[in-house]
Amino acid sequence: MPDLRERAARGLEAARARTLHLTDLDDVELTTQHNELMSPLVWDLAHVGQQEDLWLLRGGDPAAQGLLTARIEKLYDAFEHPRASRVRLPLLSAVEARTYLSDVRGRVLDGLERLDEELLFPFGMVEQHEQQHTETMLATHQLRDGANLLGPGGPLPAGRAVPRDGVLVPAGPFTLGVDAHAEPFSLDNERPAHTVEVAAFRIARTPVTNAEWQGFIDAGGYDQPHWWSPRGWRHRLSAGWERPLFWSADGRRRRFGLVEEVPPDEPVQHVCFFEAEAYAAWAGARLPTEQEWEKACAWDPVAQRRRRWPWGDTGWTPALANLGGAALRPAPVGAYPAGASAYGVEQTMGEVWEWTSSGLEVWPGFSPMLYADYTEPFVGGDYRVLRGGSWAVGGAAIRPSFRNWDHPVRRQIFSGLRLAWDAEVRTVGLDV
Ligand code: AVJ
Ligand code: FE
Repeated sequence: MPDLRERAARGLEAARARTLHLTDLDDVELTTQHNELMSPLVWDLAHVGQQEDLWLLRGGDPAAQGLLTARIEKLYDAFEHPRASRVRLPLLSAVEARTYLSDVRGRVLDGLERLDEELLFPFGMVEQHEQQHTETMLATHQLRDGANLLGPGGPLPAGRAVPRDGVLVPAGPFTLGVDAHAEPFSLDNERPAHTVEVAAFRIARTPVTNAEWQGFIDAGGYDQPHWWSPRGWRHRLSAGWERPLFWSADGRRRRFGLVEEVPPDEPVQHVCFFEAEAYAAWAGARLPTEQEWEKACAWDPVAQRRRRWPWGDTGWTPALANLGGAALRPAPVGAYPAGASAYGVEQTMGEVWEWTSSGLEVWPGFSPMLYADYTEPFVGGDYRVLRGGSWAVGGAAIRPSFRNWDHPVRRQIFSGLRLAWDAEVRTVGLDV
């Protein structure tokens, strides 16, 4: 199966190119903890190698000897060492980490000879893991103070006016989740496919924009407790938040060390779940559940089946969605008409992670994958699910069934929202 091997190698190489690009910094930048929410970048760097060593060279057996001593390897166990404490560990230096990564990768590529259909999943899993950490590294870059290191970002298509109403998704069953035969690189929490009934609802065609969010600020939304949940309001007061993270009072924002006007037509990002919930209440709407979100994204009501992608069954290209991280920002709303779902919902893949009202639960029939602690330890915890994937996500690491989660107060991630309404409620354009 030479094409399988080539595909696996190409995927790993693409993830590594991003890792090396985002860690092509001096030792001080790499070993500094830029924010207590994040690891020093040199930890993420060695951690992607440690995971590749564990899942691809040792079949997931932690007792087997890897390329690091057991004592050093433990430093890269995310459960042992919370992010805030990692800077104090005797971590590998940047030079040592890069050597370790390339040693692991060399052995993995040698082992590709033996790769067959059966063994392919761990390669896809490791590729996605490294892509997830490149997004984490971008969040660290965004939090760091100092001059721009990454440039302004690559080109994006222009936006267009998109009605601010909600499209109707009529009541009826759909297939939530996916099976391995349809989506071989789906992770455990996306499986299995099963039928669910969803009541009729409306969902916005695009995410909420910066201009719309400014309307919430101007209307006093951050000062009016009735839009907020009790817990959200307590957090709003204790955190002192008055606008999205990285915005300043003068209508500008800091993005990877550049200060610029907030672009009105871009999806808002760096808002937490509590802010998203308050905005939705102010706008006469609510957040979608993740079942609603996935139906609006992937279901084809005419064919009565799922599409692999919102736009159809062919894979992602840069003309269909803003993914891959090169843009360093979301695209304006309306930029991807060709990427619309069967219901006419746009920009579900890429742009911003979209908060849903759902907590992290598993689908009936869930069974943990090789990396058994990927999902299960977090189930039922204080998390909300986010859908869609941001502009920072690697193309291989996103699908309509992909589920992300975070604490409801987190906003250093590339998170925004899309509004939903019960179908009985007449939707009107936002009066902003
Ligand atoms: C699925 C994004 C919540 O970053 O905590 C990376 C992904 N898991 N390494 C995270 C993950 C282990 C995970 N999220
Ligand atoms: Fe990880």
